[in-house]
Amino acid sequence: MRMYDLITKKKQGNALTDAEIRFLVNGYTKGEIPDYQMSAFLMAVCFHGMNEAETLSLTMAMAESGEMLDLSAIHGMKADKHSTGGVGDKTSLILGPMVASLGVPVAKMSGRGLGHTGGTIDKLESFPGFSVSISNDKFIENVNRMKLAIIGQTADLAPADKKLYALRDVTATVDQLSLIASSIMSKKLAAGSDVIVLDVKAGSGAFMKTYEDARKLAETMVRIGNGAGRKTYAVISDMNQPLGFAVGNILEVKEAIEALNGRAPEDLNDACMTLASYMLLGAGRVTSVPEAKDLLAETIRSGTALTKLAEFVEAQGGDKRYVYEPDRFPKASLTYEVKAQTEGFISGMNTEEIGLTSLVLGGGRETKESEIDLTVGIVFEKKIGAKVNTGDTVAVLHANDKEKLSAAIERLQKAIVIGQTPVSPAPHILGVVEQS
Ligand code: URA
Repeated sequence: MRMYDLITKKKQGNALTDAEIRFLVNGYTKGEIPDYQMSAFLMAVCFHGMNEAETLSLTMAMAESGEMLDLSAIHGMKADKHSTGGVGDKTSLILGPMVASLGVPVAKMSGRGLGHTGGTIDKLESFPGFSVSISNDKFIENVNRMKLAIIGQTADLAPADKKLYALRDVTATVDQLSLIASSIMSKKLAAGSDVIVLDVKAGSGAFMKTYEDARKLAETMVRIGNGAGRKTYAVISDMNQPLGFAVGNILEVKEAIEALNGRAPEDLNDACMTLASYMLLGAGRVTSVPEAKDLLAETIRSGTALTKLAEFVEAQGGDKRYVYEPDRFPKASLTYEVKAQTEGFISGMNTEEIGLTSLVLGGGRETKESEIDLTVGIVFEKKIGAKVNTGDTVAVLHANDKEKLSAAIERLQKAIVIGQTPVSPAPHILGVVEQS
C-alpha cells in the first residue's frame, strides 16, 4: 500500500477500506508517513468527507493505537461525560460529584483548554495541590472507594489522535465532522467507560456553529459509541453565549461551588441536570429523566454533592478547605467594568471572541508551553435578552496586566451586541440524541 495512492483515492472522492485507514493511522503514528502526506490526506477529507464505515474505521484505528484502559476492576456501570468544547463550561465540576454521590461510578478523563475553549484539568488545578497525574491503579481505587476520579489524557491513550490533532490544529483541518467525531470517540472508547454522555455544543463559541451541523456530529458519535457497545447519548446545547456567568479558571470553580450550594444560573443548572440525568439513565440507576432530576436536585439540597467535591479534591491531593471557603482562592489584582455604550437589549455575544478575551488576559494557552494565569477572566452581569441602559455594567474583567487588560476591553466590547428590539435567548438544551 502507498500513501500516495490513498491521497489520490480520497482526492477523487472515493471511500477508503478499513485496511487502508489502519495503514495510514498506524504508519503516521509510527512516523513512517510524514506530516506533509498526512496533511494532504486530511485536506482531501475536508473536501470530500468520510462515510460512516470510514469514520468508524478511523475511530477504532485511533482508539487502538495505544492503551485501551481496562476499568473492569471498577464495580458497576461507569459513566463519563465529554463536551465538544465550550466557553464557561464548568459542568464536570458540578455533575461529577452529583452523579457520584448517587452511587454511580464516574471514571473521567479530562483535557486542558484547547484554542478559545477552557479545560476541566486547568480548572481543577486551581485547588492548591490537586493533581490529575495519578496512576491507573490509584484511579481505579479512588473510583471504587468514593465513585469519582478524574485523570488527564495519558501519552499512551489514543496517541494517533494526539499526533493527528496537533497536525489538524496547524493545517486548518479541525472543523470536519468525521475528523472531530473520530477524535473524540477514539479517546472515549479507549478511556473505558460503559456509559458516554456527549455534550455537543452549537453556536458562536463552538466548533459546530449551527444546530444542523451539531446534530449531525451528535448522531455520528452516538452511532459510533453504540456500535462499539457503549451506551451513548448526546445532548445538543446552545453555545451562542457563555455557560453561566463566569469565564476563567478560578472564577469558574467559584461558580461551580456556588452551583453545588444551590445557586446555579438557570442555563448551567439545565446543562448539569440534563447531562447528569443521562449518565444515571445509561448506568441503570434510574428508569426516567424526571426520576433522575428529582434525585439530582436532592444531592444539592442535602449538600451531599458538595461534600463529594471536597472528598474528591482531597483524594487527588487538593486542599478541600477551598470548597467550603472559596474566598481563599487568590484574586486578580485589577478589575474593570465593561459598560453598555448604548441602551437596548443584549442581542448577541460572539462567544469565541469571549473565550479569546479570557485567553489574552492569560487564562488560556497561546502556545502548548504557556503557563496559565488561573485568576483572570470575565464575570458577566448581563447575558442575551437583558435590557440595558447606557453605562450599565455588562461584565467585569479580572486581570493582572494593564496591557493585556486594554486588549481585553476592546475585544470584549466588540463581542457584545446591543440591539433595539427585545430578544429572548434560546433554551440552553436544544435536543437529545439517544439512538440513531
Ligand atoms: N475535541 C477533540 O477532542 N477533538 C476534536 O477534533 C475537536 C474537539
